Amino acid sequence: MKIGLIFGTRPEAIKMGSLYHTLKNSDIDVKVISTGQHKEMLYQVLNLFEIRPDYELNIMKEGQDLVELTSKLISKVGAVIKNEKFDFILVQGDTTSAFVGALVGFYNKIPVGHIEAGLRTGDIYSPFPEEINRKLIGSIAEFHFAPTEINVNNLLKEGINKEKIFKVGNTVIDSLYWVKENKSLDLQKIRDKYNLRDKKYILMTMHRRENWGEPMRNALKGVRKYLEENDVFYLVFPMHFNPIVRKVIKEELKGLERKILVEALEYLEFIGIMDGAHFIMTDSGGVQEEAPSLGKPTLVLRNTTERPEAIEAGTAKLIGTSSSEVYKNMKLLEGELFEKMSKASNPYGDGTTSLKIKEIIQRRKK
Ligand code: UD1
Ligand code: UDP
Repeated sequence: MKIGLIFGTRPEAIKMGSLYHTLKNSDIDVKVISTGQHKEMLYQVLNLFEIRPDYELNIMKEGQDLVELTSKLISKVGAVIKNEKFDFILVQGDTTSAFVGALVGFYNKIPVGHIEAGLRTGDIYSPFPEEINRKLIGSIAEFHFAPTEINVNNLLKEGINKEKIFKVGNTVIDSLYWVKENKSLDLQKIRDKYNLRDKKYILMTMHRRENWGEPMRNALKGVRKYLEENDVFYLVFPMHFNPIVRKVIKEELKGLERKILVEALEYLEFIGIMDGAHFIMTDSGGVQEEAPSLGKPTLVLRNTTERPEAIEAGTAKLIGTSSSEVYKNMKLLEGELFEKMSKASNPYGDGTTSLKIKEIIQRRKK
């Protein structure tokens, strides 16, 4: 059986990393098509997970818009799929690479498996364009690998046949375990590298399209106000490579003393930095899923979420991006809320998701 894994951004590569090894350790012929939607941020992950793509499409261009990105992807991924006779195609999540992988698979009548299926906010503009990407993948896919019961129910509500939906958890946890088992993770060394030994710090990331501009500026104003009033915490901010995002971060934090702005971190280092953080502020999806495994309270800088499990489990809080709410919630974490949020358990799986996906695919093929 020949399976094509199609992906191109950092989070997809992380969440496909463990699955790649699970599938490789079987009789399945696995081929990786790396779209190169990301460049530096993708290569970091491919190296860490020792993945050598069979195809590298290199489609990233600085600042390209969604139309250019999508059209380039369709023709380049399309050319590869025409040449390979895949029995299945697997895509992960809701990026444009994932959507195009599914679409081109469909055009070639190849069954598509969707990893991390069924996440929904109910608002097509948030996250933009990811909510539509995942809905479109959902209407194409033959196999829906849903992380949680809520995700399963979202798919059932959209009329997806229940025989095609499998509740398997999220591969994000498998990948976290894979890295812990296969790579040496020296937490102290990582903290020393960024001059964080004995420092108390808050970890922040922000990159989503719907937060570009004012929402991001406002959130950073709230963070700045809090940090200026307080002489305990540092802010560690690994910056996404997108120039639109970097400009705002640098402008809004200019002159702030206790800040450590760093380039997007290699995944292994990021885990180490997450592990040492007092709490986390983010608009990232993956970070929200990893934080509970490390017992880190997470303030989510968005107005909607497709991950209500983390909120229900008590590990994350959805706070939006207004400067006053951001400031208020950072203050609240000085109280008993901090202890409560630190103790929540992880609702996203037990690290066996990749194995379950492999077994389902093998069973269905017979
Ligand atoms: C993409 C995904 C988003 C995901 C995010 C993960 C889409 C539409 N969005 O958003 O769902 O959460 O990846 O990070 O698929 N850049 C570099 N080097 C890199 C990566 C990006 O320079 O390694 C810069 C480029 O200027 C690029 C820009 O960042 O044009 C934006 O990249 P793009 O893939 O379009 O969107 P993301 O915001 O990264
Ligand atoms: N991550 C990383 N380095 C960083 C920031 C994040 O390796 O500097 C990892 C993080 O652990 C998580 C994933 O990248 O697994 C999240 O990616 P991102 O926030 O770009 O995308 P999203 O999950 O929001 O789609």
